[in-house]
Amino acid sequence: MEWETKLVSPEDEEGFAAAARALADGEVVGMPTETVYGLGADARNPEAVEKIYKAKGRPSDNPLIVHVASKETIPSLVKEITPIAQVLIDAFMPGPITVIMKKSTLVPYCVSAGLDTVGVRFPVHPVAQRLIAMSGVPVAAPSANLSGSPSPTKAGHVMKDMDGRIPYIVDGGECQVGLESTVVDATGNWPQILRPGAVTMEQMEAALDAAGISKPEELKLHEVSPDEAPRAPGMKYRHYAPSCEVKILGDGMHEDFSNYLEYYKQTVMHAILDGRTPVGLFVGEEIAQHLRILFADKEEQILYYIYGGTENVEAASQHLFDGLRTLDEKGAKLIAAPAFPEEGLGLAYMNRLNKAATANIAQVRKRSGKKIMFVCSGNTCRSPLAEAIFRSIFRSTGPHHMIGHPEIEAKVDACSAGAFASGDQPYTPYSVRIAKYEYDEDISGGTSHIAIKERLVSQDLVLCMTDDHSHFLRERFPDLSDRIFSFRELLSDYDIPNVDGEVPDPYGGDYLEYMETAKQLDRIIRALMPEILKHWEME
Ligand code: TXA
Ligand code: MG
Repeated sequence: MEWETKLVSPEDEEGFAAAARALADGEVVGMPTETVYGLGADARNPEAVEKIYKAKGRPSDNPLIVHVASKETIPSLVKEITPIAQVLIDAFMPGPITVIMKKSTLVPYCVSAGLDTVGVRFPVHPVAQRLIAMSGVPVAAPSANLSGSPSPTKAGHVMKDMDGRIPYIVDGGECQVGLESTVVDATGNWPQILRPGAVTMEQMEAALDAAGISKPEELKLHEVSPDEAPRAPGMKYRHYAPSCEVKILGDGMHEDFSNYLEYYKQTVMHAILDGRTPVGLFVGEEIAQHLRILFADKEEQILYYIYGGTENVEAASQHLFDGLRTLDEKGAKLIAAPAFPEEGLGLAYMNRLNKAATANIAQVRKRSGKKIMFVCSGNTCRSPLAEAIFRSIFRSTGPHHMIGHPEIEAKVDACSAGAFASGDQPYTPYSVRIAKYEYDEDISGGTSHIAIKERLVSQDLVLCMTDDHSHFLRERFPDLSDRIFSFRELLSDYDIPNVDGEVPDPYGGDYLEYMETAKQLDRIIRALMPEILKHWEME
């Protein structure tokens, strides 16, 4: 906590002036705009800009947008205003658009992240304009969220992410647009949208057309697909993903009200059946009314966030980030949100919604592979057998998938090691035989490994035959103790009764003794498997 962050109302003359002064003095201030809240600092001052990256917790190789409070400031920031840039400035500024032009030397490379261009934005929000004008500096600002959370659309969101990190947040109420500005590269002879927003391609084309500029022939012939267009560098950064799955309802095409009601109904019913409640609904007023009646007796399993009229894409866009944040914070296990037609503002809405949905899937996919290690003393009898039995049971009870994602296969790699092993000893023949004939697992030719730190760090779970083993490993590797357990400890953690978790060493015994060991391991692993998988969000 470097600062005691002050929330300033625009009516508070003194506080407001102090925030503007802080900006001029090279500090970072939370600032409202019509799109989302920004984290502003003097764009000409590299030390001030550095503080933005620090507050935000994001790498300093993503370019920042420079905000101005008048069109007259723009020429000083750029080397060239192309004819199309001029049209866009005339037609859409002030407003929710960022126009990328070649930068002037006034803009340091820490703002442009080493690029020779700069994104310029003139917000229409009166409080933003007053603050920038009063500070007297061009204001570099990214969205005011911590890296990995959604862009803030209310002062409270900024406070949540930035409390203690910056001196002032100016409260300008809820943002009108709710989605970040359209980012458009205007360095060439036709605009290229790098990020869709409230200013649409249709509107830009109309403005350019009115100014007598039409689409160049080569572009008409060969439509530039979004994949070929230079990408906003920001696209490679981690995007906001709620901690649960985001489900997009419908495809936005030819849908009518009754279809959507049906999608919500199905989603709620499935969520209840699957135990994925509370289910969070980002939903229109009319549909919510129907659902409230339909699911009157299930009130506590449904979280409603009503964005406005069901078909109102402006309202859905304005409240999307707040809706995702709110439902996530309230503990939704699944969030459902409607698709809108991908035209006009719907394009920007779907762009952000798809990102929230796929970022979550990417995270689930990353979690879909786990590693488990079994540990005994010498890694020749018990643990190789446990490894084989685990694999066999996992296979025969599968296929497994990630909870809520039947399309993503769950994988677990099993291995084994010895706490006191000498290494390179062959597995005992009885273990190899039982693995093969009882469990259809070939571990022949395997040799012992020592449970050294390098092997343990990559494991998600290390399961030991006895408490002696787990105590020994935890003592040796205290920083890995969160993943080391004995069978007995885990069985008792999960309150599983009547399964003996201490597995004695059959070493030197006959085949029957090894079979007893195998049966005990079988009982333990079968009992633990569902709990372990659930813990890993697998089923
Ligand atoms: O609505 C908005 O644009 C908000 C408010 C605060 O103005 N700002 C915002 O900033 O969303 P940020 O940093 O979160 O996103 C800016 C996006 C990033 O994807 C960045 O890579 C891209 O714009 N961008 C900025 N300058 C660029 C440049 N010179 N070339 C290409 N992309 C650029
Ligand atoms: Mg951002």
